[in-house]
Amino acid sequence: MAISLSYNNNHPKKVGIIMDGNGRWAKFNKLKINKGHEKGVGVVRDVVKECIAQNIESLTIYAFSSENWSRPQNEINGIKKLIVRAIDDQVSELKKQNVMLDFFGDLSNWGDEILGKISKAENDTFEEHPSLRLNIALGYGGRNDIVAASKRIAEHLKSDLISSDDINEDMIAKFSQVPDDNIDLIIRTGGDKRLSNFLLFQAAYAEIFFVDKLWPDFTRDDFKKCLDAFKKADRRFGKRIED
Ligand code: FPP
Repeated sequence: MAISLSYNNNHPKKVGIIMDGNGRWAKFNKLKINKGHEKGVGVVRDVVKECIAQNIESLTIYAFSSENWSRPQNEINGIKKLIVRAIDDQVSELKKQNVMLDFFGDLSNWGDEILGKISKAENDTFEEHPSLRLNIALGYGGRNDIVAASKRIAEHLKSDLISSDDINEDMIAKFSQVPDDNIDLIIRTGGDKRLSNFLLFQAAYAEIFFVDKLWPDFTRDDFKKCLDAFKKADRRFGKRIED
């Protein structure tokens, strides 16, 4: 029997990015480390524009992992300042572009100023039908997220709100902090080939592209090349396609 289903959905709807290489870029250019992160925020702006141009539904970026809390305090302070500045400078532009912001992860350690800014930015950019959902991972770790989701499900079980038969993949996705499930494409810059605790559950069938360029050097054109390469991927989702 001829089966001619196309399992390459051609166009990624949901993209995740591990923006690695800011530190090395700063070192190579003999600059302070936070200059690398600063340049990295500019690259995010360019990639957001291309996502809108390419009708991508959601972009999920790894801005700060749960493990990043063990970095030197002055780097963490620099990143905090950068987040505040990015929100102050970019929210009105993102609003004009109909981009909806969603910050996720363990937000408990960020302090009142950042939490206030985040919550206002989310409210100000809320859209029923956004041009793009920009999900920003802050203090996020995939394993922690799965543990936290399991605990929440256990609470619901204990209170008889659900029964064990109700527990399935959709429920775990719903209880996860990550706003999106079924990520199509993950891009990691900076040359390393690992997921580093990013979207462990949501990236089960993602195509993963590793790019050697450091994040501050990554261009809109590089991003377009990744999207083009995705279009050629043979996505079978474990099935056998016979002809
Ligand atoms: C990885 O590079 C990058 C980070 C840990 C931080 C990325 C954060 C930003 C770009 C700022 C926040 C952005 C927004 C949009 C709010 P690295 O420092 O691990 O690089 P290295 O591997 O070369 O040391």
